[in-house]
Amino acid sequence: MSVSVTSTARADAESRATTELLFQPVQVGRYHLRNRIVMAPLTRSRARHPGNVPTALNACYYAQRASAALIISEATQVSMQGQGYAWTPGIHSPEQVAGWRLVTEAVHKAGGLIFLQLWHVGRISHPSLQPDAMLPVAPSAIKSEGQAFIENENGQGELAPFVTPRALQIEEMPYLVRQYVHGARNALDAGFDGVEVHAANGYLLDQFLQSSTNRRTDGYGGSVENRLRLLLEVVEAVSEVWQPDRVGVRLSPLGTLNDIHDDDPETTFGTAAARLSDRSLAYLHIVNPAIATLENHAKPEPAPLRMVELMRAKYRGKLIVAGGFDLDAAEDWLRKDRADLIAFGRKFLANPDLPERFRLRAPLNADDRATYYGGGAKGYTDYPSLAQERGEQPKSCVDDRWR
Ligand SMILES: Cc1cc2nc3c(=O)[nH]c(=O)nc-3n(C[C@H](O)[C@H](O)[C@H](O)COP(=O)(O)O)c2cc1C
Repeated sequence: MSVSVTSTARADAESRATTELLFQPVQVGRYHLRNRIVMAPLTRSRARHPGNVPTALNACYYAQRASAALIISEATQVSMQGQGYAWTPGIHSPEQVAGWRLVTEAVHKAGGLIFLQLWHVGRISHPSLQPDAMLPVAPSAIKSEGQAFIENENGQGELAPFVTPRALQIEEMPYLVRQYVHGARNALDAGFDGVEVHAANGYLLDQFLQSSTNRRTDGYGGSVENRLRLLLEVVEAVSEVWQPDRVGVRLSPLGTLNDIHDDDPETTFGTAAARLSDRSLAYLHIVNPAIATLENHAKPEPAPLRMVELMRAKYRGKLIVAGGFDLDAAEDWLRKDRADLIAFGRKFLANPDLPERFRLRAPLNADDRATYYGGGAKGYTDYPSLAQERGEQPKSCVDDRWR
């Protein structure tokens, strides 16, 4: 008896010790967060169409996940020109603002905090998604390998090869910044708590930043300072709408998603981190360059880890890292002071009550890739919480006001 009491007590103490950093409160910009568990941005392609308008179902999905310290919404196009996939939500029309208001009200009612991720895809698009079937735009007329996800005449999803984009003219640059400002103002109207500028994963701002996609010879190409110019202009303009302490930025150092790379990533991303550090933003959010080794539980490669350390050293504010984390890896990275907060993508997708599961060291639901994008409630709002697994009724998700 005494042995089992002692071992139970020890197990309790260990579990407290191993989750103690994730559950430390932290100040992020204007907000005091109750823990360090962030919900990473996750495109789910379930906006109502036509119009790409968020719905009550989307509100339900986000409200279920309101126990995150901070939710970062799925990437949301700031304009039609900024759209790259069928059925992703926008933040450029009044209907979209009204749709997002359902989401923010639901999240706030459930006690959560939510930032909108502002998105322009640049060349990762297709004429069928563009206004007047025009060519997608990019820093330079360089086609991406791969295929766009579009809607066919029968309303079904379909893959179509990317096209060679049109290189933006320098006169168009203020118009691009205005698209982000329009989105940022609308996000304020829609009741968000802040915005994250999506400059990761090979989309427009990353296309300007990384050397493989930017061959410009004007003030927006060539040197790293020039390749950073558009991002910094966008961050400054969006900060005027929101104040810097409610603005975050996402980068993917060493990222190769969407056929992108940089010839000198340490200089490019190190400079980006240093310049963003001067802006007093709420946070910098990076996609973990060491995601593959973390996921395979392998010894981290030196280059990705060096990149994380470089970003940490150059950026003096709060750093969120996302990619490949489980509970133990998250605790380990916080303990080693590589990050201030950890964002979880696929684990949050499949576990609406992820913080509670972490706290109890409870088993996690597995995510179902087949239902990542498109469709309805299946694989979206039907992942069970621990309470449901115990036989409790699911919380009513959609109250009458949200319909
Ligand atoms: C289904 C899915 C959709 C995603 N959508 C976005 C997105 O809209 N914006 C973004 O910046 N990253 C997006 N990502 C990347 C995630 O935010 C995250 O960086 C990635 O899933 C790695 O974290 P994880 O290992 O915790 O899942 C997406 C990932 C997945 C699996």
